[in-house]
Amino acid sequence: MKIGIDRIAFATSNQFVDMAELAHARHEDPNKYLIGIGQKKMAVIPPTQDIVTMAASAANKVLGPEERAHLGMILFATESAIDNSKSAAAPLIRLLDLNPHVRVAELKQACYTGTAGLQLAKGQVALHPDQIVLVIAADIARYGLKTPGEPTQGGGAVAMTVKATPRILALEDDAAVVTKDIMDFWRPFGCDAAFVDGKYSTKVYLDFLADTFTHYQEMNGRTVDDFAALLFHLPFTKLGLKGLRQLIADADLKIGARLAQQFEAAREYGSQVGNLYTGSLYLSLISLLENSTTLRAGERIGLYSYGSGAEGEFYSGILQPGFAAQFTTRPTGQALASRKQVSVQEYEKLYDAAVHGPAESALSADDDPADFIFTGVHNHIRQYEQRGN
Ligand code: CAA
Repeated sequence: MKIGIDRIAFATSNQFVDMAELAHARHEDPNKYLIGIGQKKMAVIPPTQDIVTMAASAANKVLGPEERAHLGMILFATESAIDNSKSAAAPLIRLLDLNPHVRVAELKQACYTGTAGLQLAKGQVALHPDQIVLVIAADIARYGLKTPGEPTQGGGAVAMTVKATPRILALEDDAAVVTKDIMDFWRPFGCDAAFVDGKYSTKVYLDFLADTFTHYQEMNGRTVDDFAALLFHLPFTKLGLKGLRQLIADADLKIGARLAQQFEAAREYGSQVGNLYTGSLYLSLISLLENSTTLRAGERIGLYSYGSGAEGEFYSGILQPGFAAQFTTRPTGQALASRKQVSVQEYEKLYDAAVHGPAESALSADDDPADFIFTGVHNHIRQYEQRGN
């Protein structure tokens, strides 16, 4: 039985900061951010958006009558948890008016768990072929203003439905995984920004890529020639490019050029959004499917997932007949193009206004056109609203 991604959608805020402007404000050469880091724009997440509101917006796009009728489980991958106890999936039941007879849970292992969610969903559908699993990967990447990590921030949510006979990507049984206890990036309790050993984290990312791909080749006997495209977790798109160059170093020149061309399609949206941790690899999948003109059904896509701390996984999926139908109108590209630009000063104000931890707060959402809004905190309880309800 084929099991895999049937529908996929993305949501982020309606505003961005231009990376060349940010570079000027930080007294850096713009080409450091544009070329050296590989980022053109960065999503600015206002205080009225968080992982729950963005997840609700993304999930709303993939939940039609069939999905709602067969929904068996929601897996919420995040490292931007809004509560130490309650899963970020639970508020979705009310906000999206879902059947309550579903299993929900939140998954944590840094940027890796969107992939854990997909693999667990696949197991669930193998046991219950009539069920559909909703996998959410949502985060807000925060390192702090004027830190080296600042140009690699961003945020957003990817929602995917996993079912039997999927219409987009059938997951193969070929995953190679590596996990080690490593301190390259972490966020202790009480901190709203990550601690990171930046250079070391990029080295571990590339070492785990070498490790997982070698293991994958030993297990499956495949080489890069077997892939129509290779996708990477993109904390910033230059790192994915380094990963690609590492994998194609010994490849035939024509194959390397083809994979490099597909990578440009796959990194476009990441370069306009920034890091969304768990969802970055899957935004790259959307970017590839909306922007590549040469992919065909039956072709194999390789995916490298990485989460600090650290866990890496290389696995693959096969494009399904009719996969392109969901992407012909380029919904994500259109949404990104319609965002408004904010100045560096406005971005700094919005960054500082993000609500973390107070018992009481009230937010005005007049400037936020999203369907799902975080309106503040009352009695330590986060308040959410769906517009129009
Ligand atoms: N023109 C072109 N390129 C330029 C340039 C210019 N004028 N000036 C600098 N550059 C290049 C540099 O040569 C460098 O390229 P290489 O890496 O290819 O050598 C690149 O721009 C970045 O420059 P620096 O290394 O000097 O940048 P930095 O020290 O200020 O910080 C960073 C870079 C370490 C990535 C930092 O942004 C950071 O800590 N980011 C957060 C951590 C992160 O994203 N790690 C990724 C792996 S961990 C992970 O994947 C999980 C996750 O999502 C967090």
